[in-house]
Amino acid sequence: MSRAVGFKGLGFYLPERIMTNDDVAKIVDTNDEWIRTRTGISTRRIAAANENTSDLAVKAAQAAIADAGLTVNDIDLILVATMTPDMPCPSTACLVQTKLGAPTIAATDVSAACSGFVYGVVVGQQFIASGTYNHVLVIGAEVLSRVVDWQDRSTCVLFGDGAGAVVLGPVESGGILSTVLGANGAQADLLKVPGGGTAQPTSLASIEARAHYLKMNGGEVFKHAVRGMSDAALLAIKKAGISPEKIACVVPHQANIRIIQSVVERAGIPMEKVYLNVHRYGNMSAASTVVALCEAVKEGRIKKGDYALLVAFGAGLTWGAAVVQW
Ligand code: UT7
Repeated sequence: MSRAVGFKGLGFYLPERIMTNDDVAKIVDTNDEWIRTRTGISTRRIAAANENTSDLAVKAAQAAIADAGLTVNDIDLILVATMTPDMPCPSTACLVQTKLGAPTIAATDVSAACSGFVYGVVVGQQFIASGTYNHVLVIGAEVLSRVVDWQDRSTCVLFGDGAGAVVLGPVESGGILSTVLGANGAQADLLKVPGGGTAQPTSLASIEARAHYLKMNGGEVFKHAVRGMSDAALLAIKKAGISPEKIACVVPHQANIRIIQSVVERAGIPMEKVYLNVHRYGNMSAASTVVALCEAVKEGRIKKGDYALLVAFGAGLTWGAAVVQW
């Protein structure tokens, strides 16, 4: 049995607090001009002290389930893509399950950093295509403001908090036409949170070394991201059996406007077809691609019958792409 799988509902949630580049410049030695010209980011959202990743995820999930015209009792599996779980154990998905009031359905996290949403969609798709489940809730949710080092200007200016969710289900036609996933663990050191795991358990020394904060070699990640995202995008388009001109809207991971410009140039797709929100939210890791997808659909940039391309890249290194007929 293999069923076509599509997006039945979409929803997102962004914390209320808006932090501008000028606000960031009060914390580290940076300025609005550098951040805007090097990254395209103007503002980002910051979760309130009492908001955790699971809280953002639940609000996005409730909106997606309502948009699908379903109730939480219709969901068969919850997948949460995140690199900022509420805690190392249990999974954020289990916390989301109980906060949603869902029955004791399967729930687990997907760990693929910024590519996590695309990974989650592909994992969820398999269960529906095989007939195992009917509706899979895939959430991308992050509170990155709590893992970035607010003393490191090369990273803290880039990230923001947010969540997006989709309900996947069987469709008559169209839906997810092709997918590409990949990873290169040999490049793990380029972007990581080294402390707090079994390699470097939390200790006074690890805290003093600030090992519990995100570290990135931005220049190297930039180069890998451009190549990785454009290769994945072109392969997904080829596997879908369409030409790049057929893509109505590209929904990329929103890390840096310059990465996105280089990716679509390499893929031969004009910038007008790209949905952008990096200026508003910065890089929300696993939440970026899904929030952008939600906004693109809401704003009419993706209409019924259109071909949309999702493409993401992140720590791991990991990458993923999918062509979807809406
Ligand atoms: O989500 C997937 C993972 N993440 C990414 O995809 C991010 C990939 N990387 C990037 O987006 C870019 O590499 C950055 C935005 C992180 C950095 O941009 P860049 O053009 O590669 O800048 P750079 O790191 O080469 O730094 C250029 C200069 C340096 O000064 P010197 O050495 O030339 O004097 C930095 O010290 O800019 C300086 N700099 C800053 N200046 C003001 C670095 N961060 C800042 C800052 N404000 N926040």
